[in-house]
Amino acid sequence: MERFVIEGPVRLQGSVRASGSKNTTLPLMCAALLAPGESALRDVPRLRDTRTMARVLETLGARCRFEGHTLRIDASEVPNRTAPYELVKTMRASIYVLGPLLARFGDVRVSLPGGCAWGPRPVDLHLMGMERLGARVSLDHGYIDARAPAGGRLRGDDIAFKIPSVGATANVLMAAVLAEGRTVLHNAAREPDITALAEGLVHMGARIEGLGTATLTVDGVEALAPLDLAVPADRIEVGTFLAAAPITRGRVRVEGCVPSHQRSLLELFRQGGLAVSQGEDWIEVDGAERMRALEVVTAPYPGFPTDMQAQIMAACAVADGVSTITETIYLDRFTHVAELRRLGAEIRLDGNVAVVRGVERLQGAPVMATDLRCSAALILAACGAEGTTHLGRVYHIDRGYEAIEEKLAVLGARIRREEEPA
Ligand code: EPZ
Repeated sequence: MERFVIEGPVRLQGSVRASGSKNTTLPLMCAALLAPGESALRDVPRLRDTRTMARVLETLGARCRFEGHTLRIDASEVPNRTAPYELVKTMRASIYVLGPLLARFGDVRVSLPGGCAWGPRPVDLHLMGMERLGARVSLDHGYIDARAPAGGRLRGDDIAFKIPSVGATANVLMAAVLAEGRTVLHNAAREPDITALAEGLVHMGARIEGLGTATLTVDGVEALAPLDLAVPADRIEVGTFLAAAPITRGRVRVEGCVPSHQRSLLELFRQGGLAVSQGEDWIEVDGAERMRALEVVTAPYPGFPTDMQAQIMAACAVADGVSTITETIYLDRFTHVAELRRLGAEIRLDGNVAVVRGVERLQGAPVMATDLRCSAALILAACGAEGTTHLGRVYHIDRGYEAIEEKLAVLGARIRREEEPA
């Protein structure tokens, strides 16, 4: 098992580029299953999760080939239509094979994903959508078994999501593009990951209206052509690097990003008194002045993303005043609180609200990552802390941040990876 050793305090300063978006790449990799032939995805991040998804596709019989940051997927033949527990348990997003396989082949078995550190992660909305499209869905020994109606083709329908679920929207959208007739998705997720997926499907020949809105209208087609597009920058990685400015009192510029994806974060930074500047494809945040306390509420896009909640908490931990952070997406996405407390943060939990009293400076200490975004928050907090921090279980961070220590070292971080002592 590896750990990071981080020395602080350092002010992170300079310019950095984010990799392609993990949460856009994963559904697009599965969209490639919709079409015979070879798809190409460019600017794909080299991560544990993209490698895991490639293994899932190869298990199904598709062929994947990484050429640098270009990923080629040949889905001409997909003879196996079972996504096994051994892979799905390591990455919930494996469930994205459900919609495409059901739409193209009319049958699929996917292991039911488990929960995660923040509580149950149900997939009832995914299954409801498939049933509304005419599939027969049953649970069989831990597997989702889904079959299209006799004759093998799904039928379009009106589908309303009680929650604008990112995953359910992606999965049902990928099922609907080959269904017979019209499907309207109401209360669909509006995350940029969904918009990019829909754009990719349209490039393949799908007919989708309402991109970027909560109502997506799909007119099914008979067949699609392979995918060929570049993945946009990872908006959560961009936000994570920008948060390094208030956390370490530095100044960070992220190049090659989509500023419009960061509106909710930049609005909070401005409320906290930080100097924020931006251009066509870059954003700069100056954290030299201590950030004032914030009131944060996570929400579906375009609201403040839950995937930035741990990172903004690390910034509030050293802000001037008392901040409140309300998590509305997950039952208990506060596993990073205990670890931040070990670094000296003063945080009180009251149900789904964290009350954070800012301190002048955190202190380094041994801490442990519990999930992907918690890891990122702890690394940044450790950079701003006085002394040495050992961060264990870095495999979490490798799931979603490509070469994070190299990127942070460019900004001046003193961070190295080593084997955990026995
Ligand atoms: C996606 O997960 C992201 N993962 C998550 O990012 C992100 O936290 C989440 O969206 C919310 O933005 C990927 O894109 C691979 P949801 P997803 O369905 O699709 C409930 C990261 O850090 N729900 O929008 O699983 C669910 O329990 C990861 O990269 C149902 O009740 O999220 C949650 O409370 C962590 N029934 C809420 O909806 C369902 O069928 C939002 O979940 C599906 C979801």
